Amino acid sequence: MRLTTTVNGERREIDGVWEGESLLYALRERLGLPGSKNACEQGECGSCSVYLDGTLVCSCLVLAAQAHERAVVTVEGLAPEGELHAVQQAFVDAGAVQCGFCTPGLIVASHDLLARDSRPSEADIREALAGNICRCTGYAKIVDAVQLAAERLAT
Ligand code: FES
Ligand code: FES
Repeated sequence: MRLTTTVNGERREIDGVWEGESLLYALRERLGLPGSKNACEQGECGSCSVYLDGTLVCSCLVLAAQAHERAVVTVEGLAPEGELHAVQQAFVDAGAVQCGFCTPGLIVASHDLLARDSRPSEADIREALAGNICRCTGYAKIVDAVQLAAERLAT
């Protein structure tokens, strides 16, 4: 099938999409957007988090066909050209990145949280990011990063 979708503000057409193909596969393998990671491909880890029409989804659980005539935003689409988004910069500055495999999903999920709640508590942050698994950091620095981003975005 031919898929027509908008990804990070750009109209994209993809030919030959298989009926069972995931949005994650289409983003990574067909559109060359490797930011979204495929750690589990079972909806368990959050590493593939993207926005679909403004809603946070696990792109491994969404069919590529479901993105037809809809808008997808990936971690690559959050930052202005040549710059980091405030959430991305906060993850760097707070030391919340180790191997980095979970980081794109956490960035998108944190971005979503801060769009809904500009000053989340630690409990709010932990709850919002509960679907994003990190095997390296122990989460404390990730919470610090989201709080730092919230402070910076508020000023
Ligand atoms: S790769 Fe999608 S939730 Fe793990
Ligand atoms: S930094 Fe390695 S999994 Fe999170």
